[in-house]
Amino acid sequence: MKILVTGGTGYIGSHTTVELIRAGHEVEILDNLFNSKIEVLDKIEKITGVKPKFYKVDLLDYPTTLDVLKNAGFEAVIHFAGMKAVGESVEKPLTYYENNIQGTVNLLKAMREAEVKKLVFSSSATVYGDKGADSARLVETMTTGVGVTNPYGWTKAMIEQIIKDVCVADPKFEATILRYFNPVGADKSGLIGEDPNGIPNNLMPIVTKVYQGKIDKLVIYGDDYETEDGSCERDFIHVTDLAKGHLAALEHSCPGVSIYNLGSGKATSVFEIVAAFEKLAGQELPKEIGARRAGDLAVVCANPALAWEKLGWKTELTIEDAIADTLRYLKNLE
Ligand SMILES: NC(=O)c1ccc[n+]([C@@H]2O[C@H](COP(=O)([O-])OP(=O)(O)OC[C@H]3O[C@@H](n4cnc5c(N)ncnc54)[C@H](O)[C@@H]3O)[C@@H](O)[C@H]2O)c1
Repeated sequence: MKILVTGGTGYIGSHTTVELIRAGHEVEILDNLFNSKIEVLDKIEKITGVKPKFYKVDLLDYPTTLDVLKNAGFEAVIHFAGMKAVGESVEKPLTYYENNIQGTVNLLKAMREAEVKKLVFSSSATVYGDKGADSARLVETMTTGVGVTNPYGWTKAMIEQIIKDVCVADPKFEATILRYFNPVGADKSGLIGEDPNGIPNNLMPIVTKVYQGKIDKLVIYGDDYETEDGSCERDFIHVTDLAKGHLAALEHSCPGVSIYNLGSGKATSVFEIVAAFEKLAGQELPKEIGARRAGDLAVVCANPALAWEKLGWKTELTIEDAIADTLRYLKNLE
């Protein structure tokens, strides 16, 4: 298939591009390089032997987005491009609504004009909001868009609705919405991975910044949750497993909207992650226990049974694989 990957130089997009090329697909990338580097294309070439064609385009620029799609013969679009920092989205809601929602509307309009009928969209477990004790086993049929705690999460919930409406208007349109849990790790080559600018929000990027000495110490937000060891538990998924989920989604694409959780189905605690990282890195990280962070739930975990059954997809890699691959990637950055 000839596939356009928006946000393809970013963290998950670059790993998915690698898996698509490995599977024999032809990939082109559109990205405005707001949160990624052009050098990623050389790394993709080093890993796969193929350098994808690249368009430095902002999805907010509709005429240029349409130029990319028109007459290019794309069969499908995988849409990663978006802003993703939860904390920043609270400070700059309009920037997030404009970039993520208008960017997606422009892409969908260009797809309609260019008659590209297959879409895979990066959504997030945040669309479920706070499901109380049921957050430990989130299922696709649960309500979404209720009690979402930040504008970033709202953009995902709203885009899901927009995509559903597009599918109602065009019965031939095929959309797969993938709700990611917590992506971690790096390609086993150690050439691509996650290297965020600024102060990250998520556990693994914070742990790696502490390890690199770029953040003084790791603050663990609360050790008094009702979990086995008192710290929060999350469903971590190796980015390569996540990337492969997109291939499975494309293979099983069908008219209408399909929605899948992409997670491992296993919750791992913050303490367990930190201990595993310290063991594999061979050093202790400076850390302290802090107060609970507003909005954090005790346990968030996927029920991934639908993806197992319908996509024939399952996670294969472990937390230890993810940490070892991250450490290899960090070593290559030095
Ligand atoms: N990483 C996670 O924890 C996580 C979890 C759930 C969902 N997601 C979603 O998955 C997608 C990819 O996430 P990621 O971690 O790879 O993020 P990322 O920031 O590494 O990649 C996103 C890419 O999109 C590009 N981009 C942003 N706005 C753009 C625009 N207007 N036009 C063109 N390019 C634009 C950025 O430059 C970047 O390269 C995002 O939509 C994100 O919201 C990520």
